[in-house]
Amino acid sequence: MQITFRLNGETVTETVDDPTTTALDWLRARGLTGTKEGCNEGDCGACSVIVTDDCSARALNACILFLPQLHGKAVRTVEGIAAPDGTLHPVQRAMIDRHGSQCGFCTPGFVTTMAAAHLNGATDHADQVAGNLCRCTGYAPILAACADVADAPVPDHMRDAPLSETPPFLGRNIPGEAAQPTGAEPPAMPGSEDDLAAWAQANPDGTIVAGATEVGLWVTKQFRDLGPLCFAAGAEDMRGVAVTDDAIRIGALTDMETLRHAMAPHHPAFAELLRRFASVQIRNAATIGGNVAEGSPIGDSMPALIALGATVHLRLGDRRREMPLEDLYLDYRVQAREPGEIVTRIDIPRQRDTLRCHKLSKRFDQDISAVCLAATLPVADGVLASPRVAFGGMAAIPKRAAAVEAALDGRPLDRTTLEAAVAKLADDFTPLSDMRASADYRLDAARGMLLRLASDEPSVLEVAP
Ligand SMILES: Cc1cc2nc3c(=O)[nH]c(=O)nc-3n(C[C@H](O)[C@H](O)[C@H](O)COP(=O)(O)OP(=O)(O)OC[C@H]3O[C@@H](n4cnc5c(N)ncnc54)[C@H](O)[C@@H]3O)c2cc1C
Ligand code: FES
Ligand code: FES
Repeated sequence: MQITFRLNGETVTETVDDPTTTALDWLRARGLTGTKEGCNEGDCGACSVIVTDDCSARALNACILFLPQLHGKAVRTVEGIAAPDGTLHPVQRAMIDRHGSQCGFCTPGFVTTMAAAHLNGATDHADQVAGNLCRCTGYAPILAACADVADAPVPDHMRDAPLSETPPFLGRNIPGEAAQPTGAEPPAMPGSEDDLAAWAQANPDGTIVAGATEVGLWVTKQFRDLGPLCFAAGAEDMRGVAVTDDAIRIGALTDMETLRHAMAPHHPAFAELLRRFASVQIRNAATIGGNVAEGSPIGDSMPALIALGATVHLRLGDRRREMPLEDLYLDYRVQAREPGEIVTRIDIPRQRDTLRCHKLSKRFDQDISAVCLAATLPVADGVLASPRVAFGGMAAIPKRAAAVEAALDGRPLDRTTLEAAVAKLADDFTPLSDMRASADYRLDAARGMLLRLASDEPSVLEVAP
């Protein structure tokens, strides 16, 4: 398989023998060792690079980015952040001036992420670097460096463009034909939903790679053989958010950062929840379809989507169907989806916004939930009218709390009602103990989250440490 992309301004064509080679390993083998390996699982940001495509320039973690995902795009590593004549980038200058580096291991990753944020004019500095871990300097000087350069002009060389004409991907792109196991022949790279659906039906044991924030770890941590591979990102008709009179339609390949911004005007609590979904690097890659298809009991988007009454759209070859999202999940890692059936879209019915979300995790940033609550609480004539309450982390699947909902319905939203609902939690859930939380802790946390629904807490930052 041959791929072509721009690397620090130069066009590179590469023959890729193993499509699961990560960009990090490839860069380092090529001598570009400024991109560091810290965790190799998307958690530390030491491997951050900037990837530009037709839509945007975004910081991504190279450790869980497969080489074929770069085809046609432009990549900038820390070696390409200073100008070609050696003039430092404003963020590099500011990091020096602010003493933003001690041992320096994390610094290339920070500089790259900060340069991406600077390029995009982002000023939410703490959110932008939340996916970069520094063990020695402390964040105050780094955040000061971010703020120092907010108004500095973007150096010209940073305005990368993807390849104007993407050369044909020299791999397989034949819908409906069964592929060979990983490595035996090139992976598929479908250009549309039709092609992806045909490939998935013909390869029910294959692996679809969307953002690779789950699949990447199967390779770097579990050394799994992925079977026949398909890189889905080229199916552009499955990407984006469309708001119609009756629904917010979210294409399965929409990344979490795009979704976060799209949700803000409609359901700000969902947008705030997504701000606490991993880090900017992960949100830039992770797709909503990957989150829903993975169906983890502690996945963050599903409680909110279920509370909002979302439907999931599925496709097996040419057969399409839809169902309420909560009906997709049957048991731990068991879904109503058939082998080869893909998620194409998620629809949220338009409604007056009454969504409330609470995510509890061990760290504020870059951590998955121990417990997550999402609830819609419509009030009519002074009483709750068909509230929907969903939890993550409380059962083997993301799940609605039927007994809690019944205790809330038709009653005023006040402390007395919520205390009655809290008493029903144990009817709905028998949570598990695991490394994130004990069963008792989960039940206690869920009770606390429910009681909080009586008060207005508009921003999660107000309950931050
Ligand atoms: C550091 C880190 C932090 C994370 N933090 C969070 C967090 O805070 N909250 C959270 O919920 N998750 C978190 N995750 C998990 C992950 O980011 C999400 O589950 C993400 O949404 C997966 O999407 P993806 O596009 O990367 O999926 P991929 O890894 O590409 O795919 C995941 C699975 O879904 C399948 N798939 C993908 N798209 C489709 C489709 N359209 N139809 C059918 N099957 C499909 C794939 O074949 C694969 O089996 C984190 C992951 C990492 C590495
Ligand atoms: S090495 Fe830690 S995020 Fe990639
Ligand atoms: S400077 Fe040492 S880890 Fe950040």
